[in-house]
Amino acid sequence: MNVDGRWRRTIEVRDPGTVIVLDQAKLPHEVSWLALDDLDATAHAIREMHVRGAPLIGATAAHGVALALRGGRSLDEACTMLAASRPTAINLRWALDHMRLRIAEVPADTQVDVADAEAARICDADVACCEAIGDHGVALIRAVAERHGGRPVQVLTHCNAGWLATVDWGTALAPIYKAHEAGIAVHVWVDETRPRNQGLLTAWELAQHGVPHTVIADNAGGHLMQQGKVDLCLVGTDRTTRNGDVCNKIGTYLKALAAHDNGVPFYAAVPSSSIDWTVGEPSEIPIEERAGDELRYLAGRGDRGGTTRIAILAGTTAVGNPAFDVTPRRLMTGLVTERGITSATAAGLAALFPEHAADHAAARDPDAGRPERGKDRR
Ligand code: MRU
Repeated sequence: MNVDGRWRRTIEVRDPGTVIVLDQAKLPHEVSWLALDDLDATAHAIREMHVRGAPLIGATAAHGVALALRGGRSLDEACTMLAASRPTAINLRWALDHMRLRIAEVPADTQVDVADAEAARICDADVACCEAIGDHGVALIRAVAERHGGRPVQVLTHCNAGWLATVDWGTALAPIYKAHEAGIAVHVWVDETRPRNQGLLTAWELAQHGVPHTVIADNAGGHLMQQGKVDLCLVGTDRTTRNGDVCNKIGTYLKALAAHDNGVPFYAAVPSSSIDWTVGEPSEIPIEERAGDELRYLAGRGDRGGTTRIAILAGTTAVGNPAFDVTPRRLMTGLVTERGITSATAAGLAALFPEHAADHAAARDPDAGRPERGKDRR
């Protein structure tokens, strides 16, 4: 997508031994690219959120494996170190499993080349997947636009599930870009998303494309929904259970509750790489607890330019910082996947992805026989 008017991907191969990533720790104040040339640098970039967003974490880890092998490190060491870098986004395990499988089956002297090629393939597949999510999801926006005579469709999103969080297009924002490209008027309410403020990344990337948007404090969404100012909520996911529960950035659940109470449709954009077919219930998902300093400090542009960090809490104040929560499937109107839109149910996901669901056929649909959800919405 666009960075200062130029088409870029968030991760690019500069030369076989160097991968460059758009440094999200510096955005939105500074556009800067970070060079990764070994396993340690890659694991560090993921852990410290220089790259972030579930699909991009997976794609970066895939390149990390290739960089590790090129540097003489073992496949096992690379996968173990990268897998430990962030615990919740399942795309990380998905990408590492894929790399391990492909690399382990080829002769040692071809492993580096195969790793490079597979990492590139994962990146290309992510772009195609996200674009397909956009093509399916735009129907939701178009339907609202048609119902309301073309007035701007009001979409609320949480965190950043845009192209910054993927290789290109994004997941939750892909339908918005598709709508914008198709000339459908759309306005985005952007949750600030404390403590890491990923909403500022969303605002930045929407601005790069001229999509109208307004940043709101995290606490404002419920009020806007009560006032009828939100037509649709679209969020991303870091891990979706095979039954349709959606684990996403902390605060997503509260927005889903408010949406449910106000009859606002609530959808997650779910690439299949974000579905954990081994997990059926929310309690099985590990929730990352991040450092308390993310709450204690704020970073921003100082009056004299440059990025400044200020403390807003005493270092002795106890803080808790769970980074994700799970929205139970009963609160989801539906899931937008690369193969189409479906209900947040085991049956809905299995119908779209029978090849995965078959592996977990033993795990029965816990909702079988329950009335379909999402019928009570606007
Ligand atoms: O901690 P982050 O910024 O990596 O969390 C990102 C999110 O929660 C996104 O919504 C999710 O990864 C989907 S990105 C397409």
